[in-house]
Amino acid sequence: MAQNKEQWGSRIGLILAMAGNAVGLGNFLRFPVKAVENGGGAFIIPYLVCFLLMGIPLLWIEWSMGRFGGRFGHHSTPFIMASMDPSRQFWKYIGVFGIFTNIGVAAYYCYIESWTLSYVVHSIKRSFAGLSQLEVAQFFNDYVGMRESALGLPYEAVVFYILCLLLNTYILSQGLSGVEKVAKVGMPLLILFGFFLAFRGLTLGTSGASPEVPHANAWDGINFLWTPQYDSLLNPKVWLEAAGQIFFTLSVGMGTVHCYASYLNRYDDIALNSVSAGFTNEFVEVVLGSSIVIPIAAGYLGLDWVRENAGFGMAFQTMPYLFEKWGPGLAVAGGVMWFGLLFFAGITSSLAMGTPWMGFMHDEYGWNRQKAAWSFGAITLLMGLPTVFFFEYGVFDEYDQWAGTFSLVVFALFEVILFSWVFGVDKGWKELTTGADIHLPTMYKFVLRYITPLLLLFVFVGSVFKPLNNDWQGAFYALASGDGWPLDNGSLLRMISNAGLHEQIQTASTPEMRAHLEKKLQFTNLARILLLGLFIFIALLVRKAYYRNHRKSLLQV
Ligand code: ALA
Repeated sequence: MAQNKEQWGSRIGLILAMAGNAVGLGNFLRFPVKAVENGGGAFIIPYLVCFLLMGIPLLWIEWSMGRFGGRFGHHSTPFIMASMDPSRQFWKYIGVFGIFTNIGVAAYYCYIESWTLSYVVHSIKRSFAGLSQLEVAQFFNDYVGMRESALGLPYEAVVFYILCLLLNTYILSQGLSGVEKVAKVGMPLLILFGFFLAFRGLTLGTSGASPEVPHANAWDGINFLWTPQYDSLLNPKVWLEAAGQIFFTLSVGMGTVHCYASYLNRYDDIALNSVSAGFTNEFVEVVLGSSIVIPIAAGYLGLDWVRENAGFGMAFQTMPYLFEKWGPGLAVAGGVMWFGLLFFAGITSSLAMGTPWMGFMHDEYGWNRQKAAWSFGAITLLMGLPTVFFFEYGVFDEYDQWAGTFSLVVFALFEVILFSWVFGVDKGWKELTTGADIHLPTMYKFVLRYITPLLLLFVFVGSVFKPLNNDWQGAFYALASGDGWPLDNGSLLRMISNAGLHEQIQTASTPEMRAHLEKKLQFTNLARILLLGLFIFIALLVRKAYYRNHRKSLLQV
């Protein structure tokens, strides 16, 4: 096994890098949409409860596991997990998730990141000046459909995607200090840009109303998000969505936190650092994330429009059109800040996704930083190009579903079992509180042992048996009246067999539609084969590493 002597340069660098890992596109693109889709104020209480009972405990678990494994020279989850329970062989294979997820997610995540980079350029070039709302939306559709560049040569989306990967790879090849530098510059800029845009969102009021939308009011957007609705507490759908958002936004269940924490010393604080990084993420998500897109869109287009159109694409399809209303100078500033903010949010997260692979290849195969970073770039490119080329056939969504959603829950479930039940909550608590700069409430031991695993189990079961149209009440009625549990096409049970797609193909109204859906089916299967192939490839590397480096030492423990 190769010795890895890298360390974080400073505490602030570590916290910013960890916060940067968490603060990502999810904070600005996913959170506001999830909140609107789940009834605005109805979302916020389950979200905060999930943060306290699932997010914070998982952060503690992952920081502790990482620092613990780092002591034995492990910087990725396969052998971090193995070192916590040396008597069982299978943990190292569970740990494969902690590398797999990152590459699977980075493949499509860097694609979104590349859009932000390209949109910064387009904002400066004023590509959106004079375009109607529909034209700005079409601009994006053309872009992801890979419009030819002005030179008629390479497609713009591919060029920016490759550029973005090159940038990530280059920074990664500089090691932890490169990551730390980007976080130290990127995070303050992101917060500065965020404040500017949020100020604009919060002060817009009714000044954006127009003859077409006379009642537009930015405050309607804020009120919608922040008026709590307690009845949502009884709706499992909202809880599941809130839990899913907590996972994605905190980057837990991924393996990045373990990797970053593994570069700490045995007596470095993890209790306060983890909470600081977690709360920084929540501040950016809840305060800044909810004060930009929704109020600005509500301020110009009205709340009804927002409720009907809230979606991931709004950031690219609508915001540039709204910035144009600020006049030429501010339109450029707004665009550069908004897409610049997204870019910094994205890159500080995608860099984190590269580190587990690098840590693993260095520890186990002695690869130097350059080799490890460029190989990460190459695998990510290979995995990612299908998401770029076949975006419209759902490859992107398939990656998000399996690598970016489901794997996180499965992995988190295993790690909480390992930490709280196998390693033991008392030993785990001792690890967590060693070197702690704050006193942690001991009642969290109970949470770690019972509440967090139960919540995770609920999320897991919820995604396997997701009811038709996410209507839980209706599903329980159907079950009680003997009609069985109606499954949704998005439930894992139906997704595995592509049941929904097959039905759609059979009922397609036109031959074109049928052909499109058949292609979608093929690409869905291709995406799954690629993901499965990636998982098996990493598992084989882990197996080989085990026989090469660990078998003897683990047998002696
Ligand atoms: N935590 C990262 C995000 O929110 C992955 O985008």
